[in-house]
Amino acid sequence: MTDTPTVYVTREIPEAGLERLRERYEVAVWEEKLPPTKAHVVSRLAELDAEGLVCLLSDTVDAEVLDASPDLSVVSTFSVGYDHVDLEAAAERDVAVGHTPGVLTETTADLAWALLTACARRTVEGHAYVEADEWETWGPTLLTGPDIHGATLGIVGLGNIGTATARRAAGFEMDVRYSGRSRKPDREAELAAAGVEATYVERDELLAESDFLSLHVPLVEATEGLIGEEELRRMSEDAVLVNTSRGGVVDTDALDTALEEGWITRAGVDVTDPEPLPGDHPLLRHAPERLVVTPHIGSASIGTRDRMAEMAAACIEAGIEGEPLPHSALE
Ligand code: DGY
Repeated sequence: MTDTPTVYVTREIPEAGLERLRERYEVAVWEEKLPPTKAHVVSRLAELDAEGLVCLLSDTVDAEVLDASPDLSVVSTFSVGYDHVDLEAAAERDVAVGHTPGVLTETTADLAWALLTACARRTVEGHAYVEADEWETWGPTLLTGPDIHGATLGIVGLGNIGTATARRAAGFEMDVRYSGRSRKPDREAELAAAGVEATYVERDELLAESDFLSLHVPLVEATEGLIGEEELRRMSEDAVLVNTSRGGVVDTDALDTALEEGWITRAGVDVTDPEPLPGDHPLLRHAPERLVVTPHIGSASIGTRDRMAEMAAACIEAGIEGEPLPHSALE
């Protein structure tokens, strides 16, 4: 028996975080590619008498997991989103919950733009076209798409990532609008300083007027299925939908019909419902012509993932020491 606290990590996070944890704790890591089952996490936490748990967004952390080890004092998720963690159950048990906000803001905004530009300029389709040896000549109307510059960019949710996405519109001279629970004068000022005038509009107006609509809301009860049939029908048939938030924010069946029937022109999504999206999922019949999908890689730059690992480790350290977490998900 050792006095050194034990931390269980549900996947191989970057060394930057693991090394930091190993300096102070016994660290057990699930080394497989696919996530451990919840039953496995429960049994490992119990076996190890773990004081800390580093989890991923693909792990469910509910009361059963939180009760697995009586010594568990902190859960640290290697993500900014924490919809997979039962915060109420954690608070009831006095288990601290950490996450990794801020650090992935710019990287995720980069990916929103990668999807936006891929959909507008049909780059994935173009690649498939060349690879299929269909490129025979320069074509006057070959793979034409909408202009990005001068278009209207609609942001749903002007939080950190929404603001970073909007800021990038400066170079494209876009008309930027946003909707959300309320107007955000501080965000507007931040964007104005970066040369972007962002106008607050009601959601229906945003839906109707956006050439590109980018989603940046967390997945909570109020945002589940936020973009469904009614909303997609309100959008312009030339519009592009971009989702780098959570798959559950968009109703998958409605998106499927919207692409099938041309209510919108294209969608670029990094998150899906279900997630992962199986290779034989019906939605994929729209790819790559009307749909570009990436496998939830919003934060996947090398530097950002290293920083996320360090932040996740820092939350574990604070939690085990009984100090306030540097990044707490609990109010
Ligand atoms: C997060 O951290 O919540 C992101 O979705 C991962 O890219």
